[in-house]
Amino acid sequence: MNTFQAPKGTYDLLPPRSATFLAVREAIAAPLRDSGYGYVETPGFENVELFARGVGESTDIVTKEMYAFETKGGDKLALRPEGTASVLRAALEANLHRQGNLPVKLWYSGSYYRYEQPQAGRYRHFSQVGAEAIGAEDPALDAELIILADQAYRSLGLREFRILLNSLGDKECRPVYREALQNFLRDLDLDDDTRRRIEINPLRVLDDKRDAVQKQLGGAPMLRDYLCDACKAYHEQVRELLTAAGVAFEDDEKLVRGLDYYTRTTFEFVHGGLGSQSAVGGGGRYDGLSEMIGGPALPSVGWALGVDRTVLALEAEGVELDIPAATSVYAVPLGDEARRVLFGIVTDLRKAGVAADFSYGGKGLKGAMKNANRSGARYAIVAGERDLADGVVQLKDMESGEQEPVPVAEVLTRLRALLG
Ligand code: HAM
Repeated sequence: MNTFQAPKGTYDLLPPRSATFLAVREAIAAPLRDSGYGYVETPGFENVELFARGVGESTDIVTKEMYAFETKGGDKLALRPEGTASVLRAALEANLHRQGNLPVKLWYSGSYYRYEQPQAGRYRHFSQVGAEAIGAEDPALDAELIILADQAYRSLGLREFRILLNSLGDKECRPVYREALQNFLRDLDLDDDTRRRIEINPLRVLDDKRDAVQKQLGGAPMLRDYLCDACKAYHEQVRELLTAAGVAFEDDEKLVRGLDYYTRTTFEFVHGGLGSQSAVGGGGRYDGLSEMIGGPALPSVGWALGVDRTVLALEAEGVELDIPAATSVYAVPLGDEARRVLFGIVTDLRKAGVAADFSYGGKGLKGAMKNANRSGARYAIVAGERDLADGVVQLKDMESGEQEPVPVAEVLTRLRALLG
C-alpha cells in the first residue's frame, strides 16, 4: 500500500481547483439564504436505523452502499449516505416544527458517503449542498425549490442542464399503480434479481438500463394514468408555477428516484457532459418520511445538488468561474530589517481587510518575485536596506510592471486607496 494514496473512490481537493468547489457551494447557498432558508449542520453519522427506515430497506443505498458499523460501545451507526433523513431528524428532535412557523426551511452543505463502484462522477465520498422545506404542502414550495436550484446553476454560468419532472403520486394512488405494475411485470421474461425487484421496488424496474428489459416494457402501465385527482391538480400547479417563472422543464414519467421516501413531485437536474452519471442534482416531495421515522405527519420537499458533479459539469461546458486572486499584496523583504518592517506592514494590511502575503524562508529577490507572481497579487511591496535608509518601500504594480518608492508611513493608506 502506498501511504500517500487516498482511499479508493475518494479524492482530495487542492488549490487551485478547490477554490472552484468553494465558489460552487457558495453559489448554490446564496439563493437559499436569500429565500428564508437557515443553515443546519448535522453529524456525519447517525443511527443506522434512521436511514434504513427513512431512505428505505429496498434501496441500493441502504442494502449495498451504506457504510454501517458497530461502535465499541455497541451502537449501530452509519456514515450518512444523504442529508434529508438527518435534517428531518434534527428538526423533529429540536421541535422546530412546533414553533408555529411552518414550513421550517433549512439548507446544508457537507460530505456524504456511499460504497459505490467508483467511476467518473461517482465517488465513495462526495459533497452536496441541499435544502429542505419541512411541514407544508404547497405547490409553490416545490416550485420555489426548483426555481432556486435553476437560479443557482444559472448564476454559475451553467447552461446545458435540463430539469426532468415527474409526480410519483401519494399514499392513495401509488399503491394501486404499484400493484398494476407488478401484475404486468410478473408476466415478463426477467432474471431472478429483477423478479425480486418486482416484489420489493417495482418502479425501479422501469429504470432498468438494459435493452432486453426495456424492450419488454412497451405496454407497461404508466403512473400518470393512475394519479388521483388531488395529485394531478397538485402537479399541474407546480408545472404552471415553473412555466410562469420561465424555468424550462421536461416531463419525464419514467423518472424514479433511488430513495423510497418520495411522494408526488420528483425532479432531477441532468447534464449531458458527465457520461453515465448524468444527474447533477435531484429531489422531491417526501410527505410520508416524518411518519416513517416516527414523527408526526409533516409534508415536506427538498433537493440536494452534487458539488462534485456540478464542478464536472462546469468543466465540461468550459465555464471558468471568475475567482478573484486570494492575495492582493505580496511583500518581498530583502534583509533582516526589511523582514521586520514588511512583516509589520503585512499584519496591518490584513487587519485593515487587505489580503496580503509574505515571502517566507529568506528567499532571494528572483525566487520571491516568482512567488509574488504566482500568488496573483496585484501589488508587490519590495524593500531592501537602501530603501529603508531612505524611509521608503518599492511599490510594484504587478500588471503594468511599474514601480515607485512610497514612504513607509504611507504604504497602508496608499494600498487601500489603490485597491479601492
Ligand atoms: P440523490 O439523488 O441521491 O438525492 O443525490 C443528490 C446528488 O448527489 C446527485 O444528483 C449527485 O449529484 C450527488 N451524488 C449522489 N451520489 C453520488 C456519488 N456517489 N458521487 C458523486 N456524487 C453523488 C439525495 O441525496 C436526496 N437526499 C435529495 C433530496 C433532498 N431529496 C429531498 N431532499
